[in-house]
Amino acid sequence: MSSNTAPAIEDARLSKFEERVQKGDAIEPRDWMPEAYRKHLIRQISQHAHSEVIGMQPEGNWITRAPSIRAKQILLAKIQDEGGHGLYLYSAAETLGISREEMIEQLQTGKAKYSNIFNYPTLTWADIGAIGWLVDGAAIVNQVSLQRTSYGPYSRAMVRICKEESFHQRQGYEIMAMMMKGTPEQREMAQDAMNRWWWPSLMMFGPHDSDSPHSSDAFRWKIKRHSNDELRTKFIDKTVQQAEVIGLTIPDPELKWNEATGHYDHGEINWDEFYRVIQGNGQCNKQRIAHHKKAHNDGAWVRAAAEAYKVKQAVKNN
Ligand code: 3HC
Repeated sequence: MSSNTAPAIEDARLSKFEERVQKGDAIEPRDWMPEAYRKHLIRQISQHAHSEVIGMQPEGNWITRAPSIRAKQILLAKIQDEGGHGLYLYSAAETLGISREEMIEQLQTGKAKYSNIFNYPTLTWADIGAIGWLVDGAAIVNQVSLQRTSYGPYSRAMVRICKEESFHQRQGYEIMAMMMKGTPEQREMAQDAMNRWWWPSLMMFGPHDSDSPHSSDAFRWKIKRHSNDELRTKFIDKTVQQAEVIGLTIPDPELKWNEATGHYDHGEINWDEFYRVIQGNGQCNKQRIAHHKKAHNDGAWVRAAAEAYKVKQAVKNN
C-alpha cells in the first residue's frame, strides 16, 4: 500500500464512524472505532464497574445489623444486584479489549478511580437509607441518560441496570420515610445521615462542565447525552421535593427555587473535598482498597477451580 493510501483509508473510516455516531447508530464491538473512543470507554465503563463493586462494601457493613429480617433481605438483594451490575459492566468493558485482570490491577493500584461517594463511612442504619435514596437516586439520573450512550454493550447494560436501580432508590426512601415517622432519636439519625450524604451525592455527577476534561469528547461521540451539571440539576430538583414530603431538611442554606430557570439554585460544592477524595485521600479509600484486595485474594481458589474446570471440559469435549 503506498504511503499516502493508509492515512486516506483512516480518514475515510473516521468520517464513516463520526457519521454513524451522529446518526444515532449503536457502535458494536466488531465495528471500527477510533482508538481514543475505545480508550475513553474503557476508562469510563471500568470505573463505573469498580464503583458498583466497591459500593457493596459500605452497605455490606450493615447486613448483620439490619433492624429486621425484612430489612436484611432487602439489603442483601440490593448488594447482590450491585455485584451483578459490576459484572455486566466489566463484561461490557472487556468487549473493548481490556482483560478483567488488567482492570482489577488498575483499581487496586489506584490507576483507576471509582465513585467518590463510596469513600464515606456508614455510621448508622439511616446511612443505608440515605445511600439507597440519594446515591442510587443520583445513579439513576446518570444511568437513565447513559441508556442512550453510543456504545451498544454499555447502553444495553444500562437498560438492565436501571430496572433494578429503581428498587434500590425506593427501598432507601422507605427507610428514611419510616425513620422520619419514628422517635425523635430516629428522626435525628435520619437528618444526620441527610447532612452527611447530601453534598457527596451532588459530587457524584462530576466537576462542573467547565472543569470536565472529558465532556467535550463524550458529547462529540455521544457517550454522554447530558452534561454533569444538567444531570446534577435534574437530581436536585427531584430530590428536594422528596425530602420535603418526609420532613427532611436539605443541608444547604442557599437552596432556593428559581422561578426564572425552573430549577433550584444551590450553594457551591466543596470541590477541594471532591478532588481530595477522588485522589485517594477520603475517609475510607485505603480501607475500601484493602478490603477489595483481601476479598480478591481470598477468592483466588474459586477462580483457579473455575479455570481448571474449563480446561477439563475443553479436554473432554475435544
Ligand atoms: N467519583 C470519582 N471520580 C470522578 C467522579 C466521581 N463522582 N466524577 C468525575 N470523576 C473523575 C473522572 O473519572 C475523571 O478522572 P479520570 O480522567 O481519572 O477518569 C475526572 O474526574 C474528570 O471528570 P469528567 O467529568 O471529565 O469525567 P467523565 O466525563 O468521565 O464524567 C462521570 C464523570 C459523570 C462519573 C462519568 O464518568 C459517568 O457518567 N460514569 C458512569 C457512571 C458512574 O460511574 N457512576 C458511578 C456511581 S455507580 C453507583 O452509584 C452504583 C449505584 O448502584 C449505587
